[in-house]
Amino acid sequence: MVSNQININGEKDVCMQHSEDTVLLASLRSGFGFPYECNAGSCGSCKYELLCGQVESLFDNPPGLTARDIRKNMHLGCQTRAISDISIKTRLSDEYVPLTKTERLKARFVGAHDVTHDIKEFVFVTDQAANFQPGQYALLTFPNLGIKRAYSMSNLANSKGEWCFQIRKVPNGKSTDFLFNEISVSDVIEIDAPYGMAYVRDNSRNIVCVAGGSGLAPMVSITKGASEQGLLKNKNLHFFYGGRSYRDVGVESQLTNLPEFGTKIFFHPVVSESSEENLKHWSGEFGFVHESVEKRLGGDIKDYEFYFAGPPPMTKSLQETLMLKHQVPFNQIHFDRFF
Ligand SMILES: Cc1cc2nc3c(=O)[nH]c(=O)nc-3n(C[C@H](O)[C@H](O)[C@H](O)COP(=O)(O)OP(=O)(O)OC[C@H]3O[C@@H](n4cnc5c(N)ncnc54)[C@H](O)[C@@H]3O)c2cc1C
Ligand code: FES
Repeated sequence: MVSNQININGEKDVCMQHSEDTVLLASLRSGFGFPYECNAGSCGSCKYELLCGQVESLFDNPPGLTARDIRKNMHLGCQTRAISDISIKTRLSDEYVPLTKTERLKARFVGAHDVTHDIKEFVFVTDQAANFQPGQYALLTFPNLGIKRAYSMSNLANSKGEWCFQIRKVPNGKSTDFLFNEISVSDVIEIDAPYGMAYVRDNSRNIVCVAGGSGLAPMVSITKGASEQGLLKNKNLHFFYGGRSYRDVGVESQLTNLPEFGTKIFFHPVVSESSEENLKHWSGEFGFVHESVEKRLGGDIKDYEFYFAGPPPMTKSLQETLMLKHQVPFNQIHFDRFF
């Protein structure tokens, strides 16, 4: 295993990067608060300036890097590896220091079951305990495909080493094709975890979880976590779930066995397409999930702690509604965009 040294912002902050890691993962593993969000090359949060040395890129033309960034010798921490000792400049921040040490683990596939018509829950087991906060995600590497993708855990940390992921089938997607069509019981993949900043916080505010499409898993984990950690003793949790069709939103059964369901946990499904079929089969609410959140929470909207996950158009609309229209303070908003 080849190791290279990464100097961050001068001589003080130094770490080693082993050949499997990116600049971002090596820095986080060494306890540095390197800013990031997606770990997938899309959000641009992990940009750094390369001052000296050489890096290789793992993703040609990643969406998170502009032509201007390239001219300024900026790179993405999550999509580059040092191939010599390097010096870089970025803004480290304590809020990104990992709460739990991130680890790369061998994980055995034990089974999968349907959640909706296009989402399945995949279960893996590691020899070590599964350590993460509700709402965080893992990087799954599929050895035969040589690709890595981010997936959020839908369960809670546990000593049995069980990791559950609720994954939506993407047409012609490389990893989802493998998971939905090829993986066999006992196949071994790698789980690198935990990552992500949209984990549940303990404070006095009522909780709002909002998921669109594939954003279900982390919101399920946060709701289970809030229940298990006793966070709902003096507060409520509203769970909004938006889908295009009535077939997408039948996920209530994941919450109904929680003791607070119906008294402190409230489920609000909403369907966006008023097609003939949906009108025939769905008697619930129609519209976009961000509109549903606004309508239900009304004038109290600024008093909640928000967690959300899903496709970027959904997270953008909700962010704009909360931050621009209602001035919800930024520190009450925690989200992951599923690029
Ligand atoms: C933080 C986070 C959490 C997520 N959690 C979930 C979840 O819980 N459930 C779920 O269903 N989906 C989740 N996703 C989406 C998931 O990671 C995949 O993008 C999705 O499943 C499609 O993967 P694919 O390989 O099947 O599709 P592909 O079409 O093969 O790839 C889709 C995406 O992968 C990314 N990608 C492509 N090439 C590279 C590369 N070289 N390096 C890195 N990324 C690349 C691009 O963003 C691309 O748009 C999450 C995404 C993020 C960022
Ligand atoms: S964390 Fe690197 S681009 Fe999003």
